[in-house]
Amino acid sequence: MTTTICYCFGVSKEEIEKRIADGESIDQIRGSTGMGWGCGGCNTLTEPLWGEKATEESRERILDLLARQA
Ligand code: FES
Repeated sequence: MTTTICYCFGVSKEEIEKRIADGESIDQIRGSTGMGWGCGGCNTLTEPLWGEKATEESRERILDLLARQA
């Protein structure tokens, strides 16, 4: 099962995590997928998860929210 983060461009949490583990930044992923450049709604998830100002607390809050929606 995958968790969709960006509905406009079909980008999943699992794809983002793999690409970050492979060394890409969230901005590089945005650039290559378009993520965040459609409605922009996914930025409310990507910023607290992987953005420059993300914290352990913000990651836990969003991951808990996503788990509840699964
Ligand atoms: S959900 Fe990502 S740009 Fe719309």
